[in-house]
Amino acid sequence: MSKQLPKTGEPWDTLSDRLVGLGENDIDWRNKRSAVYVFHPGDDVLKVAKDAYALYQSENALGLAAFPSLKKMETEVIAIAIDLMNGPESGTGNITSGGTESIMLAVKSCRDEAASRGMYVDGANIVVPHTAHLAFDKATHYLGLEIRRVPVDKELVADVSAMREAMDEQTIMLVGSAPCFPYGLVDPIPALGDLAVETDTWLHVDACVGGYLNPFAELEGIELPPWDFRVEGVRTISADLHKYGYAAKGASTVLHRTKEQYAHQSFSADNWPAGAMTTPTVAGTRPGGAIASAWAVMHYLGVEGYRAKTRSIINARTKIEAGIETLGLQVFGAPHLGLIAFGAADGDDLPIYGVWAHLHSCGWFSGVVAEPNGIHLMLSPSHEEVADDYLSDLTEAVAKARGVAKTGGAADGEAPTRYA
Ligand SMILES: Cc1ncc(COP(=O)(O)O)c(C=O)c1O
Repeated sequence: MSKQLPKTGEPWDTLSDRLVGLGENDIDWRNKRSAVYVFHPGDDVLKVAKDAYALYQSENALGLAAFPSLKKMETEVIAIAIDLMNGPESGTGNITSGGTESIMLAVKSCRDEAASRGMYVDGANIVVPHTAHLAFDKATHYLGLEIRRVPVDKELVADVSAMREAMDEQTIMLVGSAPCFPYGLVDPIPALGDLAVETDTWLHVDACVGGYLNPFAELEGIELPPWDFRVEGVRTISADLHKYGYAAKGASTVLHRTKEQYAHQSFSADNWPAGAMTTPTVAGTRPGGAIASAWAVMHYLGVEGYRAKTRSIINARTKIEAGIETLGLQVFGAPHLGLIAFGAADGDDLPIYGVWAHLHSCGWFSGVVAEPNGIHLMLSPSHEEVADDYLSDLTEAVAKARGVAKTGGAADGEAPTRYA
């Protein structure tokens, strides 16, 4: 495509109409029929997240001396996060642009800490369950490390003895997810913690999905294995504010157990005319809006608010899970939170991507998984309201897909794009 900057400007009135028009083919996530990409906590929370963003949209957290407001907000968000995740007094961290950056910074800190102990880190490796997010592949690719993905056990969670087998003297990090993206399952973090302590290896918990959900699910009586700083070997946690923290996009947290290990996160250089610069994150300029949005939503909801949102998510999941089982389909593993993947039962040739396609044509938008083929739902609080509608469309979609399969039609069609 080629396009030039218009010679003259256009008034905001028409531009805002055009912007709305540009979104006409986007998914209509406001109708609560999408279960990927957007977390819908209710219109009031969305307004707080948006208005807070707008108030600080021009402020820049690269210059915390110029913006003590942002420094205070970031410090408070990190302190709240450390408290929610049972971290020690020494705990610290930063707000980053997203889960990928948080993961990148945890891996970078680990690599540079190993190097500071005299280890040759070029090509050193990290050992992760097969279900860990691809952000770890990105991080190792950028940082000159190797990633070793280890098959999960039959419950679809980290196989700790297989991970032990995959380690060698060049292993610098172990990873567990709480929960993993593909199936929404929490890895056995205590057993990974034991392995990490025994081998003096850095354990990172990827709680990008669960960091701001698990603490409230636990308060609501959901039993999870300890997954945070309660587990001795856990040195860093990634937890996304723009997922179940309900902040505007561009906000995650990377959390460290100690200030000593955190020191390895930052980057300093002074080899240019403008003097020395030290930054704690990958980004230089950091959006004040994202920080203000996270701070405001946390204070708007409080523990009671997050608990209520979490209750809605769990109600939606348990209802949908029961409906899936009534239809003779299979939920993959035993999810306890808001993420669920399901497909045909063993031995059933139901073309599940055909079911996905029918749901899609009814306006439901979600991801899929491929090991085995299945439908993936990342539920929001607002899904509690539409769970019954989803199940009735799912019932019809299954019947339709079975019918098409029986008449020899191409029921499964193309595998839809995967959303990670
Ligand atoms: C478990 C997990 N880790 C990391 C990420 C990456 O987060 P982001 O897309 O914010 O970079 C995701 C995204 O869905 C995730 O589910």
